[in-house]
Amino acid sequence: PGRGGGRGPAAAAAAQKVCGGAGAGAGAGAGARAMVKALILVGGFGTRLRPLTLSVPKPLVDFANRPMVVHQIAALKAAGCSEVVLAVNYQPERMMAFLESWAEKLGVKITCSREHEPMGTAGPLALAREVLDDGSGDPFFVLNSDVVCEYPFKELLEHHKAKGGECTIMVTKVDDPTRYGVVVMDGEGRVERFVEKPKTFVGDKINAGLYILNPSVLSRIELRPTSIEREVFPKVAADGRLFAMTLPGFWMDIGQPGDYLVGLRLYLESVRRKSPTELAAGEGIEGNVLVHPSATVGAGCVIGPDVSIGEGCVVGDGVRLRSCTLFKGTVVGAHSFVEGSILGWESKIGAWNRVENLTILGEDVATKPELLLNGAVVLPHKEVKESVSQPKIIL
Ligand code: GDD
Ligand code: MG
Repeated sequence: PGRGGGRGPAAAAAAQKVCGGAGAGAGAGAGARAMVKALILVGGFGTRLRPLTLSVPKPLVDFANRPMVVHQIAALKAAGCSEVVLAVNYQPERMMAFLESWAEKLGVKITCSREHEPMGTAGPLALAREVLDDGSGDPFFVLNSDVVCEYPFKELLEHHKAKGGECTIMVTKVDDPTRYGVVVMDGEGRVERFVEKPKTFVGDKINAGLYILNPSVLSRIELRPTSIEREVFPKVAADGRLFAMTLPGFWMDIGQPGDYLVGLRLYLESVRRKSPTELAAGEGIEGNVLVHPSATVGAGCVIGPDVSIGEGCVVGDGVRLRSCTLFKGTVVGAHSFVEGSILGWESKIGAWNRVENLTILGEDVATKPELLLNGAVVLPHKEVKESVSQPKIIL
């Protein structure tokens, strides 16, 4: 508080809070040309994805067999990004420990920029300014951590350069714009208005939470908790320097269980179009299904559509799975039925269970045989011994 405009010693000291670091060969092959950097906003406690976020921070929750944020980092790398800063406000050590092997695998340098109080969606940029503004003048990407799409970052970079604005944001069309930031643009893609969570109808194009920004925008952001949507974008738009690119393909904010499963369906549809060989095929598979190579599926199962089965999962004989996801190490007992549900890591479903209607199991939950779980939200490490016939939270 009261630290002023984000320039000078305060900002420099704050930026040194960047901790950790992982990733081999990030600069390999970069030659003399500086490579684009990215900052991913991974703050917040992910309360709407509890009980999954009781075990790991939201960006590390699995989505289609990889942590959510890994999908983003892989896409950034594919677009030529060499260094990713994760803006976090809790558990940076946990995040780094978890991502170290991914950094190696993807060949990206990953660091954490730690906030000691939540800095909102713009404050973290001021905090990491020394990293983001390396003097090259190159723009950098900024991402909300809870959005899934095909991440066309190369196209975004090209669009940004072609339009010559200060910031370019990706936009997409949704049915209920009131939950998002609404963008009104002209025929050229220049943003005329940006209104965060409008109460009345402004338009149906919304901010997809993926941006590319010139370093000059950092001088508009003070080192304090502040919102890029409410305090930065409206001003850049007023100066005529904010542009929008319509996102091709699907988009979803997966920060809530229902939306998470819709996002999974859309993601698998996109895998079907782009790399169908990644999907399972054969007897008993219906529609789009992802099965980790280390998982085993019993005899006489019917799986799909819209299912992902994670690493080391064991699906018993005669199981029926539809629109659901099994995180790493989950076991589904023989002749059980699972639909519209998320089964957290290492869960054990007994035989002859019926699990449905947005049931969410935290890590290491076990159920007795012959139970009904209808909309049950079960906290980690519980054993469920009785049916849950109406949606409720099992403590
Ligand atoms: N580091 C850090 N610190 N990150 C934060 C903080 C913070 O204090 N607060 C929020 N974030 C991160 C969240 O983790 C998320 O990745 C991103 O910033 C956006 O926050 P949400 O809480 O998910 O916002 P939203 O979903 O209500 O709205 C945002 O996303 C919509 C698209 O899903 C806005 O950007 C909207 O304009 C946009 O339409
Ligand atoms: Mg969100």
